[in-house]
Amino acid sequence: MVVNQGIGDPGLCECVLPGHQLKRLYEAEDIAAGVRRVATAIADQTMSAQLLCVPVLKGSLMFAADLLRVLPPTVEVDFLGVSSYQGGASSSGIVKLTRDISTSIEDRDVLVIEDIVDTGLTIRYLLDTLALRKPRSLRVASLLDKPSRRVVEVPIDFCAFKIPDLFVVGYGLDYAEAYRGLPYLAELTLPEHS
Ligand code: IMP
Repeated sequence: MVVNQGIGDPGLCECVLPGHQLKRLYEAEDIAAGVRRVATAIADQTMSAQLLCVPVLKGSLMFAADLLRVLPPTVEVDFLGVSSYQGGASSSGIVKLTRDISTSIEDRDVLVIEDIVDTGLTIRYLLDTLALRKPRSLRVASLLDKPSRRVVEVPIDFCAFKIPDLFVVGYGLDYAEAYRGLPYLAELTLPEHS
């Protein structure tokens, strides 16, 4: 069951699950500016025109789609799938590869595209896994970074927004698969008993 929260454009349904509250953090224009900043920083680095972008599904879908539209048209794309949250609002700590890329990355410049780096366990696992395949370079672009939550050190080469320890949804990020389609980023507050 969904409840209309009564915010946003009139005529558009903006719904939340019962007891959930959304507090907007970054509007679509803020996100677009953040994506442009990241794209400029990536282009300023001397990476090859045949850069391989590897978005991590599913959370990075919007960020990757917007980033790819402003990067040089010669960049290539392949997808990785991982799961670590298993539907909730805290990481299980166990990272599982649910989909691998089909492209060889040996001697390639590779850019992993993440939605958010929280404990760092997911990106650490992905970097270790991909490094074994001998890429020429391996870098990370993340839409969001929650540095206060870090459990393992990870290099984040490009980041749009650093945020405090909040649970964030929208623009690809979910809670139990809900809210990915929101065009903005919002803090999600859950009902007390959940
Ligand atoms: P980490 O392994 O703890 O760094 O978690 C990384 C993954 O957890 C991200 O790719 C997201 O899928 C998920 N995640 C972490 N924080 C949030 C959040 O605030 N909202 C939604 N998903 C999150």
